[in-house]
Amino acid sequence: MTLFLVLVVSVLLSAFCLSAYRVWFHPLASVPGPRLAGLTYWYESYYELLHRGLGGQYTFKIQRLHEEYGPIVRINPGEVHIDDPCFYSQLYTYRDGFDKPEHLKWRFGSPSALFSTPGHHIHKVRRSAQDPFFTKSRILKLAPEIQVKADKMCRRLAKDFSDQQIPPTSLPNSLSTGTLEFLDHSMFESPFVKAIRGFKDIAHPCTQFPWLARIFASLPSWVVRIIQPSMSCVMDFQDEMRLLVRTAQAEVNQHAPDEKDIKTDRTIFHGILRSDLPKEELEVEILKDHAVSLIGAGIASAQWTLTVAFYHIISNKEIACRLKDELETSMPDEDNIMSLEKLMQLPYLMSCVEEGLRLACGQMTRSPRIPKKPMQYGKHFLPPDTLISMDTWHMHHNSALFPDSFAFVPERWLDQPLSPAMYQSRPLRYYMVSFGKGTRHCIGMNLAYAEITIGLASLIRRFEWELWETSHADVEVVRDLIAPEVVKTSKGVRMLVRLGK
Ligand code: HEM
Repeated sequence: MTLFLVLVVSVLLSAFCLSAYRVWFHPLASVPGPRLAGLTYWYESYYELLHRGLGGQYTFKIQRLHEEYGPIVRINPGEVHIDDPCFYSQLYTYRDGFDKPEHLKWRFGSPSALFSTPGHHIHKVRRSAQDPFFTKSRILKLAPEIQVKADKMCRRLAKDFSDQQIPPTSLPNSLSTGTLEFLDHSMFESPFVKAIRGFKDIAHPCTQFPWLARIFASLPSWVVRIIQPSMSCVMDFQDEMRLLVRTAQAEVNQHAPDEKDIKTDRTIFHGILRSDLPKEELEVEILKDHAVSLIGAGIASAQWTLTVAFYHIISNKEIACRLKDELETSMPDEDNIMSLEKLMQLPYLMSCVEEGLRLACGQMTRSPRIPKKPMQYGKHFLPPDTLISMDTWHMHHNSALFPDSFAFVPERWLDQPLSPAMYQSRPLRYYMVSFGKGTRHCIGMNLAYAEITIGLASLIRRFEWELWETSHADVEVVRDLIAPEVVKTSKGVRMLVRLGK
């Protein structure tokens, strides 16, 4: 009994000391913010898991906290969030390599993927092997292959769906360079599409309780499938990626060419296997994580961006006509879609692409960095190892930079506009952070631009579109599941497609 009492008193005393430290003596104690957020991580967990019966609400709450407390807010005991467009490039910098937090490593069950890798140095090594595959010149060379997929998509739409409603998942899935399987599924609903939903379901629980993801990772897959059925498709996808890596391994071992040459590599994995990476970086589980992130992250964000752009273009006659006019004038023969390089010179098309990217807000959740040196924000001293975060949502809905920020206005990108003087009159594009910035910026940015540009140009040039039982609610973001999420009842953006006149 006495031992039990001692135990209880010790626990209460430790809790009291920890609370007192966090609230009054912690280096971040003077940063504005709700007391409760500085006291306990449960504050964030509540908004991410439970609030409004939905979860995924902390980004919106942080927005309200900035309105109340100003541009810097302490959002949990060890992290501050900054809402100041001018600070973005200082935090997401190319100069100093900042780490990412260790606990986010398990968020998608792919701990060795580039975006999960916490340490700057190992990230740099891993990224150097993949960068050459995503340069602008390499993507321009790849563009004809993306066009072939867009053409195949258009043929299927014309043949199987003319005058019919097309399924909501169909748009850019089909253009992804990762896999062509969507095109061959009757309703474009492949196992991968389901896996993406599975990833979203587990993202917040695994962020708030990283041990949960570790337990999932250590259990036999049949057990996980029973406890958490939504993980089944994720595990199937991971198995598929393991197979892809093993096939590449076998091919590289059999037919190793005398010289390393990325031009002859069939996939990025052949290239990585032939790179100078240390042997431990070439293990199947690590390459599987890269495959999951490259194919998973890439396809889902591009799909959502194209969907958002499509919805707004089709629902606004003026925008649709202006875009169609530009495409018809520059490509009188619809069977001859011009090269990506030329498409990228069409001002209105590219304004629609930029505006789609801005409004779609690909990764919505904040992305914390851990500077090794102290940083200063205003009068606030942020000691080394503080988690500092910003996010795309706050940047893209800054009303001084993007007035009427929830409206789709391609015109705001025409004629190389500048930001207002309060934001240093820089080119407005400087504040577009769909792909992040700095050492960890999206590796697939050029590929995403290519897919979205070719997708929009081909589909809008060749067909007439009409929304079908679709409303603004189908693109209105109500939850942050790392990626933006709409109401649960949404059936997706659905359209009727007709052959062009
Ligand atoms: C519209 C499309 C896309 C958007 C909006 C987008 C957005 C982003 C953002 C914001 C980041 C930075 C994450 C962070 O700071 O933590 C990122 C990283 C990443 N993206 Fe994308 N992405 C898109 C398309 C793609 C594509 C097509 C690929 C596939 C090739 C891809 C692969 C990756 C990878 C591997 C990373 C991690 C990079 C690193 O940490 O070094 N993304 N993406």
